[in-house]
Amino acid sequence: MITASNLHRSYSIGHNTIEVLHGLDLHINKGEKVFLCGPSGAGKTTLMYTLAGLEQPQQGKVLIDGTDIYALNLKKRALFRNKTMGFIFQNYMLMPELTALENASLATAVAGREATEQVIALLERVGLGNRLHHLPNELSGGEQQRVAIARALAHNPAIIFADEPTGNLDSRNGGQILDLLFSLAEEGGKTLVTVTHDASIAARGDRTLIIRDGVVANA
Ligand SMILES: Nc1ncnc2c1ncn2[C@@H]1O[C@H](COP(=O)(O)OP(=O)(O)OP(=O)(O)O)[C@@H](O)[C@H]1O
Ligand SMILES: [Mg+2]
Repeated sequence: MITASNLHRSYSIGHNTIEVLHGLDLHINKGEKVFLCGPSGAGKTTLMYTLAGLEQPQQGKVLIDGTDIYALNLKKRALFRNKTMGFIFQNYMLMPELTALENASLATAVAGREATEQVIALLERVGLGNRLHHLPNELSGGEQQRVAIARALAHNPAIIFADEPTGNLDSRNGGQILDLLFSLAEEGGKTLVTVTHDASIAARGDRTLIIRDGVVANA
């Protein structure tokens, strides 16, 4: 379902060039729950953004369900992404002026009562039925991350990308968030790609890919 081949990505600052992805290959099957691990600065976030169509590699291809996403123009790629993928970011990335319900509704393609009811059901599922009209700054970190999970799932994407979804939470809250993410992904038969530093968290996935020196070190 996700195939990356020969990904290259480097950044130049002044005279220095940092090779982040260095001919990286990977394959992730439909429904698999995969963790991306590796030291800080190894390129986990860069890889996730590249797989998700957000950051064009300098070389290489990403195929999602057979579609070569960087062969699409920007507009088609954005549409493809919205249809196929959901994102959860480390720092939640909620819109500060929107309520929990409005934030979680952002990615739903259709508006209207039915869509709103679905998003409310999802927010209830993540334990926020009584926080629908709260603003992000009226929610705890764990609650904000639950809103972000609801937002990522609201349009029912086949793939969920999560970058350190528990990075800002204490271990109890982090564990609960992960349980929730896993059960929602399993129920929907979704592919889940999660970045983490934490080896004990990664042990819960089907597979861990270790990113080191710009490639998957344990391929
Ligand atoms: N826009 C950019 N410009 C220049 N260098 C960048 C840019 N984005 C990332 N880098 C560099 O690329 C390397 C990989 O960054 P990346 O964010 O992918 O690492 P990471 O594995 O996610 O690290 P962490 O675990 O700390 O989040 C880092 O050395 C970083 O400094
Ligand atoms: Mg990162």
